Amino acid sequence: MKLARIMRRLATAALALTAAAFVVAYVRSSNDCETRLAAAPRDPMRAVLACDYGTPDVIRVARVEKPVPGDGELLVRVRAASVNPLDWHSVRGTPMVMRLSSGLRKPHDPRVGVDFAGVVDAVGPGVTGYRPGDEVFGARTGAFADYILATPARIARKPAAVTFEQAAAVPVAAITALQGLRDKGGLKQGEKVLINGASGGVGTYAVQIARHLGAEVTGVCSTRNVELVRSLGAHHVIDYTREDFTTGSARYDVLLDNVGNRSLSESRRVLTEQGRYVLVGAGGPNDHRWLGPLGRIAVMWVSAPLVSQTMAMFIARLSPDDLALLAGLMEAGAVTSVIDRRFPLEQAADAVRYVESGRARGKVIVTVD
Ligand SMILES: NC(=O)c1ccc[n+]([C@@H]2O[C@H](COP(=O)([O-])OP(=O)(O)OC[C@H]3O[C@@H](n4cnc5c(N)ncnc54)[C@H](OP(=O)(O)O)[C@@H]3O)[C@@H](O)[C@H]2O)c1
Repeated sequence: MKLARIMRRLATAALALTAAAFVVAYVRSSNDCETRLAAAPRDPMRAVLACDYGTPDVIRVARVEKPVPGDGELLVRVRAASVNPLDWHSVRGTPMVMRLSSGLRKPHDPRVGVDFAGVVDAVGPGVTGYRPGDEVFGARTGAFADYILATPARIARKPAAVTFEQAAAVPVAAITALQGLRDKGGLKQGEKVLINGASGGVGTYAVQIARHLGAEVTGVCSTRNVELVRSLGAHHVIDYTREDFTTGSARYDVLLDNVGNRSLSESRRVLTEQGRYVLVGAGGPNDHRWLGPLGRIAVMWVSAPLVSQTMAMFIARLSPDDLALLAGLMEAGAVTSVIDRRFPLEQAADAVRYVESGRARGKVIVTVD
């Protein structure tokens, strides 16, 4: 009895301490926005910032100090950037669980944008392999700006025949498609792959990369995008407004799921006995606001020993080798960037808002002149 009472008190104290720590962390969570915006920059540049979490209305274009490359860094003059759902996730701070690392009350890092292409302006000490004037593309937070500090581990050379806009579209979306199909899905020549969400940023690259890997490709999209997906090389296209891909008789070796709108059992139904389900996306701003795909991941783990197929969530990892591989595929004409709309830097909020609508066909570009 006495032991039970002590345990209860200890548990209550632990809970109260955790709650107090959470409140303190919440109140103290901050960023350097005020300092950044108050200072008059000596060498100014434009940068897109979101100082608070919220809808794309919180996005603003500010004049901040142009950065100077430190050890191992390059300063890149951005010529074009591209928008990913990642950008609206960061601006909104959703799913909420993400705020445990990005900042509970405010984003630690207010800079917006990740994908960019541009020209090396200066190199810091210790950088080898690049020099001013080189044309590069890559990914790093703060891409919606006149200049960005990059590292060699997150960039590759842009082929001369590929425009800055085409290259800026590539990093997050195409690497996700490539790694999802090749590494996580283990897609092999002659296998059948279904790409759910074939007309968006990831999907348009996935269709082309799956074709390049020698697979038989089926894309799922709405009526207005059927021709686009077919023109990218899909052998079959399922219009989701007319046909439910989970009830058809076809069976696939890999399902690359950029939408996450069907249950796991429905998705497994269309896989072969040893098929692989690769979860890439988890819906729009009003879906799974607290935990994102964590619930789905938990179900995958629990059911893994009971089913013959493999199921996995996957987070792309930026690799300079994969960027270079994609550059080669673009140069050879095997992969092209589908560009839907372009917005000038000053309208970056509209660009993010448009991608957030979930209706983008291919990629949305932020031009930086
Ligand atoms: N795991 C990772 O590492 C990783 C990396 C990048 C992206 N992602 C996630 O992957 C998802 C896709 O990214 P994205 O860049 O391709 O997004 P996106 O460009 O915003 O996707 C828009 C496309 O989704 C299509 N779509 C919407 N509802 C659909 C449905 N029910 N069935 C089929 N297609 C549908 C739309 O076509 P219609 O207008 O024709 O419906 C539109 O073309 C996002 O959730 C993103 O957060 C994950």
